[in-house]
Order: sequence, then structure tokens, then C-alpha cells
Amino acid sequence: MPLTPSDTAPRIALVGATGAVGTTLIELIEERGFPYREIHLVASARSAGRELTVDGRSYRVAALDTFDFSTVDLAFFSAGGSVSRKWAPAAVAQGALVIDNTNAFRMDPATPLVVPQVNAHELDRRPDSGIIANPNCSTIPLVRLLRPIEDRWGIRQAVVSTYQAASGRGHAGMAELREATRVTLENPTGDAPAEEFTPTLAFNVIPFVDELLESGFTLEEQKMLQESRKILGVPHLDVTTTCVRVPVVNCHSEAAWIECADVVDRDELVRLLAAQPEVTVHDRDAIGGFPTPRTAGDPDHVHVGRIRVAPHNPRGFWLWLVSDNLRIGAALNAIQIAEALTERGTL
Ligand code: A2P
Repeated sequence: MPLTPSDTAPRIALVGATGAVGTTLIELIEERGFPYREIHLVASARSAGRELTVDGRSYRVAALDTFDFSTVDLAFFSAGGSVSRKWAPAAVAQGALVIDNTNAFRMDPATPLVVPQVNAHELDRRPDSGIIANPNCSTIPLVRLLRPIEDRWGIRQAVVSTYQAASGRGHAGMAELREATRVTLENPTGDAPAEEFTPTLAFNVIPFVDELLESGFTLEEQKMLQESRKILGVPHLDVTTTCVRVPVVNCHSEAAWIECADVVDRDELVRLLAAQPEVTVHDRDAIGGFPTPRTAGDPDHVHVGRIRVAPHNPRGFWLWLVSDNLRIGAALNAIQIAEALTERGTL
């Protein structure tokens, strides 16, 4: 029974409970039987009073501005960077430990940036900032594969292109893709909605995710470099990325070219990747033998296929990965952080 009278189960708050990641957090709490003593669902004043169900019980959504974080032990934040910047430190000051799904604190030296399959040791003690950051949605599946590759062959460079789904922009992003697709099918030359994604994402691909930096890279591309270095603890790791939005509702994909210090044996690479926790290798060349956002399978696994060591350069190889960005890239990673904290007694 996830709602438990046990004194050791945490009292939790979900900030952004009505959003795409918040809704996925609720699903995962139910599916995984995550134990809690109390649960509070928090969103903007617009949603206050709305009823949501968790584990068969109905809860009223509370407004963030008036929520008292001294009533909870653990708060999950997934309501956007500006909300976290303002409210996560306030929640910590009131005594809660925060797991933050946004970009707000990821590069803060006092805040660990954690993918439990890679660097769970960061959770052995309570962080100085009181916040544990959940990494970027494309970074999480990538570092889960880069870790064993770095340890075995040493990475010289990783060149990555992402194919990112509309759900990265939450409910509004998914709704806009659906509506823009419908409008374009009815009138191919008309104006389709283009607010969340500009130009419109319907029947399009957009090589631009998040804001543009002076360097010419986007913030999303910079996050993938900086966060990979921090999570893996390899400060000079050479990862370079082009982040692309594609008209897929949910599930990010990535094509990664990884060049190592040593020659890579393909069979050993396949075995190594298949041995990683919650990773599925699709090692067949036939159609259907590679993962796609629609067909990959278990949404709680990172799916990898198209594994090709380059004949002209056997230090380098290509991987194609697919992972559910709302789960692996956000809510599941956050729940796995909470589970690891519970196991360690550091909550
Ligand atoms: P609300 O539904 O009340 O707007 P998504 O990622 O799907 O866009 O969802 C964003 C989540 O963040 C929603 O739960 C949304 O609540 C919440 N949110 C957005 N802005 C605020 C805010 N200023 N204060 C509290 N919650 C917010």
C-alpha cells in the first residue's frame, strides 16, 4: 500500500502536479508503489481546488503561493525553471529536500546532478543546497551509455544529434503539435499554430531547442555538454550536439557517433550495453529490429540499436537511442532518485 502510516515513509509534495511531468510522476508513484505518508499536489493558482486522483484517493490541488513546505519532507519540482528558482530555495528553507526537474540548479556546485544508474553515490549524504537536480531529458539516456564506454575504452569525442519530441514542452507542446497537424492536413498552405514551436512543428523538423546562446549553440546543446561532464565526473569530456525538435508526440531519439581511445570490438560493445541496468539492445538489422519512439517497448528502459563500428575507423561507432523523455528523461529519474534516498536513509 503506497499510502502508509509508517513514520519512515516521507510526506511528499508534487509541484507542477497538473503538468506533463507531474502527471507522469503520479503514474510512476502508483505503478512502483512508491511509499508516502502524505501526498500534496501543488500547481499554479489557476488549478487550485481541482481534484486529482492518486492511488484511488482524491486530492485537491493546492496553489504554490500559499503552500507550506514545512508540512513535507520531500518536494518534486517540475513547473519550469523560473518557478524553481523562486520557490525551491523557499521550500528548502522550510525544511523540505527538493528534487528539481528544471535547469535552475543543475550546474550549482552545491547541488548534485544525479542519474542513479551512473552516480548514485552523490546521494550518500544530504546536499549542501538541499536540492538534488534531475538532468536534461536527452542527457540522461546518453550518460547511461557513455559511463560504461568511458570506463572500458575511454571516450575521445561524442558527436550527437537529438530528435526531440513535442512533450519536452509539456502539455502545451503536445497539444500544439496535434492541432498544427490537424490544421495542416485540412489546409496544407494555411497557417498552422507556431507558438510553442516556431516555425510550426507539423510536418517539419526544427534544429533549435531552447534559447540561442552567443556561441551559436542553443542552451539545450550546452546543457548536454556541461551536464554530461558533471554527471560522469570527466571535466574535459568532448561532447558536441545538434538538438532538433521533430514532430513526435513523446519519446526522444539520439544518433551518437562515439570515438574512443582504443579499438572497439562490436560484440563486446553489444554485451557491455546489454549488461547495463534498464537498457534494451535491439541488435537486429531487419525492419522492426531497431527502436523507434512508437515501437521501442518498455518505456522505463533506454533502447539502443543500429550499433555500427566504422570499418574505416574501428575506434569509432554509431549508436541510435530512444527513450521516453517524460519518464526516463524526467519523472522516472526523479522517482529513482527518491527511491535511492529512501534506501540510503538520507531523506
Ligand atoms: P497549472 O496547470 O496550474 O498551470 P507542463 O509541463 O505540462 O507545461 O506543466 C507545467 C506545470 O507547472 C503545471 O502543473 C502548471 O500548473 C505548473 N506551473 C506553471 N507555472 C506555475 C506557477 N507560476 N506556479 C505554480 N505552478 C506553475
